[in-house]
Amino acid sequence: MQVVHRIADLQDVLAGASLRAFVPTMGNLHEGHLDLMQRARKEVDVRVGAAGKTVASIFVNRLQFGPHEDFDTYPRTLENDCALLAAHGCDVVFAPSEKDLYPEPQWFKLHPPAELADILEGAFRPGFFVGVSTVVHKLFNIVQPQLAVFGKKDYQQLMVIRRMVQQMALPIEIIGAETRRAKDGLALSSRNGYLSEAERAEAVHLSLALKALAATVLEANGKANLDVAAAEEAAMQSLRSRGWQPDYLSLRMQHDLSPVTWPCQQPMVVLGAAKLGKTRLIDNLEF
Ligand code: PAF
Repeated sequence: MQVVHRIADLQDVLAGASLRAFVPTMGNLHEGHLDLMQRARKEVDVRVGAAGKTVASIFVNRLQFGPHEDFDTYPRTLENDCALLAAHGCDVVFAPSEKDLYPEPQWFKLHPPAELADILEGAFRPGFFVGVSTVVHKLFNIVQPQLAVFGKKDYQQLMVIRRMVQQMALPIEIIGAETRRAKDGLALSSRNGYLSEAERAEAVHLSLALKALAATVLEANGKANLDVAAAEEAAMQSLRSRGWQPDYLSLRMQHDLSPVTWPCQQPMVVLGAAKLGKTRLIDNLEF
């Protein structure tokens, strides 16, 4: 596996690869990321074998962090990340410095539409999806992948990226990979590392609250009425009573994340974000 930091070096290393399968990350990798890399590896092996290359980027993107968020303290663990990637089918790691990726302030930015980017995560993290779309678009231009793998844990991010690729006519296939969970059901996340032992034991309750909300919705199937707002509020209250500070637990349509109007026969998803102590966790469940 090769590790490169400069854009020009990346172009050299990737020259001639007939298929480039890309996994963008911010590092501090866990098994969820490694699943994404293994998926990229499998796609390359099945489609073109040795003629293709898998690429992971490691870059903590300042543009997607709010002023009071954890940009400065976000764990930078390059050496360990590279060892993990090498063991999970990665051919090339692209780990640019801020100067390489943003040699001057990034004046041009991609603004996803408000109805997709200013709801849910975007409502609580203003500018987050502008930062994500801008860096992912830039990384796509640099890596020039034919396919890219993103995790479904960041459900709204995956949808924003899919729409960006579609609207900007980027010739990239986007693959959404299932969320990897710990034994107790907690979705793996780099931010789980911030949790104390007691918080870690409690953390699964975000996914349990989402499951309970989905169960309430499924029970209402076939019935004329479901008070969606009341069901969402009850789910948030169940977390509050355990000491969480929920930002949202919300029932949405899978295809565009718009609110559900009842009765609903189409695929739905519940998404949630909540703070446990100082750590903000997100999760979702499709049904
Ligand atoms: O999901 C992430 O780790 C980041 O948002 C991404 C896609 C690497 C962009 O910085």
